[in-house]
Amino acid sequence: MGSARFSASSGSPNPRPEVESLHAYTAPLEGRRGLLRLDFNENTIGPSPRVVEALRAIPADQIAIYPEYDGLREAVVANLAASGLAVPLQPAQVGLFNGVDAAIHAIFHAYGDRGDQLLTTSPTFGYYTPCAQMQGMEILAIPYEGSHFRFPLELISTILQEQRPKLLLLCNPNNPTGTRLAPEQVLELAFAAPQSLVVVDELYEAFTGDSVMPLANFAATPNLLVLRSLAKTAGLAGLRMGFAFGAADVVDRLARVTGPYDINSFAVTAAFAALADQPYVDAYVAEVMLARDWLRSRLDASGVRYHLEGGNYLLIWPRLPPSEVEAALRAEGILVRDMSGKSLIDGSLRVSIGTTKQMQRFWEAFTTVESLSE
Ligand SMILES: Cc1ncc(COP(=O)(O)O)c(C=O)c1O
Repeated sequence: MGSARFSASSGSPNPRPEVESLHAYTAPLEGRRGLLRLDFNENTIGPSPRVVEALRAIPADQIAIYPEYDGLREAVVANLAASGLAVPLQPAQVGLFNGVDAAIHAIFHAYGDRGDQLLTTSPTFGYYTPCAQMQGMEILAIPYEGSHFRFPLELISTILQEQRPKLLLLCNPNNPTGTRLAPEQVLELAFAAPQSLVVVDELYEAFTGDSVMPLANFAATPNLLVLRSLAKTAGLAGLRMGFAFGAADVVDRLARVTGPYDINSFAVTAAFAALADQPYVDAYVAEVMLARDWLRSRLDASGVRYHLEGGNYLLIWPRLPPSEVEAALRAEGILVRDMSGKSLIDGSLRVSIGTTKQMQRFWEAFTTVESLSE
């Protein structure tokens, strides 16, 4: 097929100019199975056995027919209701997507017009920018503040008031800095900016709390949209299942730019089973939090610079060049993410947190590579 980019010079029609100046978003490294994967903040032990059982029990005719989504929104609502909501959520306030990536894509497709502004932070999750670029949007990315990467609340509030951006995208806790923003502050931002769609990407909220969902009232803040996924906690990253919660009108607009069968029926079966086994997810999260405490105590004793705040990941600044440490760890079968070139966090590695046993393995390899005495 040749190049993935087409242009007039290849004899084919021109795509939109915004598309011509983009590069395909690079997929995660291949060949990661069998390694200790601390590079993409995934669940490191796999989904509930009930998910695997449900997938194994799929009859052949389920493969032959188009996916059916009946009851899935209700199952999501029931799962969330059990965690405690101030205002009950309605099924029409739940959008279903082929991963939160697809929800993000739909948000930009539905709301981001050429010349509109996206207000977000920097550094943050890498998919917001190409989505804004493909719509021809202007991007305003406000840096986190200080050596602890505090959320730039004052500046974001001021810009929201003065420039009235079409979209505000907050990753809470932020990937990769872990920065946490109190849910009350998220709600205040949404209240104060009814002209902006305020999107909170809560992919990692399960690990450290901070979700706006227990307080959210989409009748009072119809411009608030919350994103959640079954990728990181429930361990369904390979099947793709993401949710958007918001006012029914907003959810409906996202559905208008989403294909009718974008979520496959394996993901639907897995999602029902995962949502019904919340204790499995809770136990995994509790294990990650124990491992996090263990790693923190090792880091404190070693004097290595690190930043650990929200989510199931942290930043570590190795003594040696990060690319060297990343390669040496990979040779030991451990994958971490080199943050070289990222604003504010250049020189660091992002390390996902798994079980205590997995973090012990990481720490042993890391201290050996760095020649740290234990
Ligand atoms: C902050 C954030 N949002 C969204 C995603 C994508 O989530 P999903 O796997 O549900 O598409 C990721 C994945 O790494 C992420 O870190």
